[in-house]
Amino acid sequence: MENEIRSLLETASRLISGAQDDIKALEQVRVRYLGRKGEFAALFKGLVALPDDERRRVGKVLNEAKVELEALLNGAMDLSREKLRSRTQFFDVTIPGRRPLTGHLHPITQTAVEIGRIFSGLGFETVEGPEIELDYYNFEALNIPRDHPARDMQDTFYISEDVVLRTHTSPIQVRVMEKRRPPIRIIAPGRTYRCDSDVTHTPMFHQVEGLMVGENISFGDLKGILTVFVHQMFGPHVGLRFRPSFFPFTEPSAEVDIQCVMCRGAGCRVCSQTGWLEILGSGMVDPEVFKMVGYDPETVTGFAFGMGIERIAMLKYGIDDLRLFFENDLRFLRQF
Ligand code: FA5
Ligand code: MG
Repeated sequence: MENEIRSLLETASRLISGAQDDIKALEQVRVRYLGRKGEFAALFKGLVALPDDERRRVGKVLNEAKVELEALLNGAMDLSREKLRSRTQFFDVTIPGRRPLTGHLHPITQTAVEIGRIFSGLGFETVEGPEIELDYYNFEALNIPRDHPARDMQDTFYISEDVVLRTHTSPIQVRVMEKRRPPIRIIAPGRTYRCDSDVTHTPMFHQVEGLMVGENISFGDLKGILTVFVHQMFGPHVGLRFRPSFFPFTEPSAEVDIQCVMCRGAGCRVCSQTGWLEILGSGMVDPEVFKMVGYDPETVTGFAFGMGIERIAMLKYGIDDLRLFFENDLRFLRQF
């Protein structure tokens, strides 16, 4: 009987390897040998006829053979299932890979970098200041005392009585002059906040402050520097105008408008039908401001300006609604 068992196992093994990963063929082998009416079942039945001690010995051999065959079959079946899976999930190594999304700088940042590049070429150093600012630097040191009507020019977010979200980058002028002696030539970009919202105003926006202080700095220098800037930023053919204005911290003061690039000066909703768009405020530093930082207004003069980065970006890229810059719609941002 032991010989019979051995040859049964051998034939079964041969059948398994002959099945070539064919699941159906393997299933047939299982039924034929291990099924309820299979070869092994018949042999187990035959054990009954044997004497006690022989039955125990042969029974053990038979059991081991059955376990061995089960293992063989299971292994072959797993393998064939695996092969089937890899055949149906064919991996084409020639398909081009999916490109990971790469980000880029926000158009406002790109514009700020470009502004910085132009002024750095004109000898201006870039500095920064705090967005949460003392009332003193945002207003008082800029010659805007409490209860002065000029405070209404900018709708301010107050954090406490003495602390505000800066409404402009001009407080950085004061911070720089407090620490340094002339000559000074800096620009200071950053976020600014006002309670303001329409197509050309957002509650948070960016400005770049500029300050140049020394001996014999004149309004001619102011006009020259800003004209060079506008021409480098927008091209030599874009018109600009200096319009008399008022700021408590400059005297005389001027706002600079450039020709609306959306309508080329014809008038549209972006320029409120005027053909011009204001990009910055500027002027000669007021002697009162110099006195606040301990400079002698008799010996030093200077000019300052503060421009809106969003306005510049709008004109540069032909965007007709400033709010688009802050909605973070990727369909918009991807175009830059
Ligand atoms: C000022 O903020 C002055 N500090 C500028 C200045 C600096 C004058 C130094 C003299 C010397 P004004 O409030 O006009 O000025 O704002 C300057 C520029 O910021 C505007 O020309 C405009 O381009 C931009 N701006 C102002 N408010 C907003 C807003 N809500 N959203 C977007 N841009 C704005
Ligand atoms: Mg203004």
